[in-house]
Amino acid sequence: MNVYTTVAEMRQQVHAWKKEGLTIGLVPTMGYLHEGHASLIERARKENDKVIVSVFVNPTQFGPNEDLAAYPRDFKRDSALCEKLGTDAIFHPEPEEMYQNACTAVTMSVLNETLCGKSRPVHFGGVCTVVSKLFHISGADRAYFGQKDAQQLAIVRKMVKDLNFDIEIVGCPIVREADGLAKSSRNVYLNEEERKAALCLSRAVKKGQELIHLGISAEEVLAPMRQIIEAEPLAKIDYVSMVDAENMQYVDHVESDVLVAMAVYVGKTRLIDNFSFHV
Ligand code: PAF
Repeated sequence: MNVYTTVAEMRQQVHAWKKEGLTIGLVPTMGYLHEGHASLIERARKENDKVIVSVFVNPTQFGPNEDLAAYPRDFKRDSALCEKLGTDAIFHPEPEEMYQNACTAVTMSVLNETLCGKSRPVHFGGVCTVVSKLFHISGADRAYFGQKDAQQLAIVRKMVKDLNFDIEIVGCPIVREADGLAKSSRNVYLNEEERKAALCLSRAVKKGQELIHLGISAEEVLAPMRQIIEAEPLAKIDYVSMVDAENMQYVDHVESDVLVAMAVYVGKTRLIDNFSFHV
């Protein structure tokens, strides 16, 4: 497995693979890999001749008061895991390599105006821009994203459609700890007490899944979910919302495929979780 830190080196390898007619799967990550990422890499491994994992903590998707500097990093461990999972190459650039005097960015509307996009106004523009760059650099046939970041997945799918990227986007299920907590690199921020409190998210998801059915009002699903979170003293709701699964706009009733998503602060750590319902 090779580690490439420059666009030129990565491209050289990609061109060589393409010349041999090989297909490429890309798993874009910000590192600090966990079983959720591992499931994306394994899926990519099955569906492509070559797998590239990008490990890049992308500064443009963090707002000024967010956790860019504190974001956990452990490249040695990440590369060992990638190697074990049969990754062919890691793309691991420095921010300067990715954003030399950049004047161009991808913007989006509508889908990024709700849920996390509302609380994190610069976030999805940064994601769209870096993901576009990674798609071009990797020349990938397929790219793998987790359902845990459901709004990100919907946004990337829409961007690919709107801008005619020749790439297939593959969404993969949420991977959870044995007790239900969705795997996240940010879980390391939680102390013991907060780790226990964080279970209110997956408990709320479970409650919502029990209640939801075609025709039910959003509030009949969301209010009992909020109650579970509000009963936890260390938890503070950012949002618990229901949106149309495709355009991410709020819905009053379940009449189409929907996403029920939440962001909750547990102590200082902002955690997300969600479930989808198909009619
Ligand atoms: O989901 C993530 O880890 C990031 O948003 C991504 C897709 C790697 C872009 O930086």
